[in-house]
Amino acid sequence: FNVPKAVNEPVKEYAPGSPEREQLLATYKEMFNSNIDVPMHINGEEVRTGNTKNITPPHDHQHVVGQYHTADKTHVDSAISTALAARQAWSRVSWTERATIFLKAAELLAGPYRARMNAATMIGQSKNVHQAEIDAACETIDFLRFNVQYMIDIFKDQPASSPGIWNRVEYRPLEGFVYAISPFNFTAIAANLPASAAMMGNVVVWKPSDHQAYSAQVIVDLFKEAGLPDGVINVVYGDPVMISDTVLASRDFSGLHFTGSTHVFKNLWQQIGNNIHNYKTYPRIVGETGGKDFIWVHNSSNPIQVATAIVRGTFEYQGQKCSAASRSYIPASLWEEVKKHVIAQTKDIKMGSPEDTNNFVNAVIHEASFDKIASFIDAAKTDADVEIIVGGNHDKSIGYFIEPTVIVAKSPTYATMTTELFGPVMTVFVYEDAAWEASLKLVDESTEYGLTGAIFSNDRYIVEKASEALENAAGNFYINDKPTGAVVGQQPFGGARASGTNDKAGSAQNLLRWTSARLIKETF
Ligand code: ALA
Repeated sequence: FNVPKAVNEPVKEYAPGSPEREQLLATYKEMFNSNIDVPMHINGEEVRTGNTKNITPPHDHQHVVGQYHTADKTHVDSAISTALAARQAWSRVSWTERATIFLKAAELLAGPYRARMNAATMIGQSKNVHQAEIDAACETIDFLRFNVQYMIDIFKDQPASSPGIWNRVEYRPLEGFVYAISPFNFTAIAANLPASAAMMGNVVVWKPSDHQAYSAQVIVDLFKEAGLPDGVINVVYGDPVMISDTVLASRDFSGLHFTGSTHVFKNLWQQIGNNIHNYKTYPRIVGETGGKDFIWVHNSSNPIQVATAIVRGTFEYQGQKCSAASRSYIPASLWEEVKKHVIAQTKDIKMGSPEDTNNFVNAVIHEASFDKIASFIDAAKTDADVEIIVGGNHDKSIGYFIEPTVIVAKSPTYATMTTELFGPVMTVFVYEDAAWEASLKLVDESTEYGLTGAIFSNDRYIVEKASEALENAAGNFYINDKPTGAVVGQQPFGGARASGTNDKAGSAQNLLRWTSARLIKETF
């Protein structure tokens, strides 16, 4: 059980004039003009169906950087049968061999793959350099390194034995295959969903988000170069309903590793329930889903610290982190000061293409998302009960750009206080200082979600009371800090309520879901 101790990958600065910055921007340029052709991957083979869709950067949607190929039912069937065939060998590969492959992937990503992975994420998902670096490079590396350590922690957990009797637990992979569905917003999550199941000896059918095809291709290349055998992770793109219908109809479906919307996850869960008599084993269902993440502020807190947390926690990656704050509750006595700093800091934000590294905010992922967010902003413009105090403009002529926007609502149940928008929009409700306990109730009861949340107070009594009142309101609960930016190995991530099954990503708890333990008692 002697494995390299996991450490977090240091975040590179990409300072002006630094070699890493030059290399990244050169890679970006080259990949932007590469006309990449992204195949599916079944049994290690590149599958090109000719049914393609364009890959276009959200910040420059008329520019086609390439295409990806999409599946029909026969390809999905073939991905399943290939995975099952690969299972014979992969489930018997020793854990040291599996660990070696994923640790090698981590080091390849820390070195030669770093610029490509970051550039693909900047182009395809419209992340700025820093957001790409902390996601596509560092968080992916951290997941790979720490999961190896967590895997060992699991293996070490063994029952007592005695002379003449040896009790031992074998942490076997699930009998069947795992279905991974990953979102566009984190390259690290996309890599981790199939990789964590595969690390535990499972075979996987992986459907990345279509809007993440560019970085998914780099992930496939990375795992291949690290030595992952053909057929262990099979990649399909295309119609999500057809793909899920086909996968979930298989008798060998044994687990779902999902990150995406609450609506889709609930539908898949229901579908799995409807098929339950057909499966060989009870499928494991792990999901991280929607959120309406909060910042709650007490008048004992520092208004500048609060304003910075609101701006950073809401507008990083255009508010498209599942952890991003989108509703704040501020006491009246602090509001004017907080407001002044929120407006000033928001006005300082530059928006545009990630290629210009001064741009903190880039484009939202696609037109449907843009239209949804813009419609809520436009409705707010004409509503007498709300005020837009900064931002409010949007323009999709070149890219899907939405100005960082802060709305103040008179009602704590105003639409943007309760609806998940997944965009750069914060809605503030100002409460009377004396009503702080009632305002905690509002935070707790206004939405069905429980992903992340932050509270601000310098009074220990208030911190305790708020932690208690919000005990189920956030799987990741931050005290005096913004609710984004969980680091693997430090803040395992996951939400409760309608936000997910809370099997923290990057934890032994998560990896345990991908094993089916066999207890062996042997007497001598
Ligand atoms: N792990 C990501 C964050 O905490 C979602 O921002």
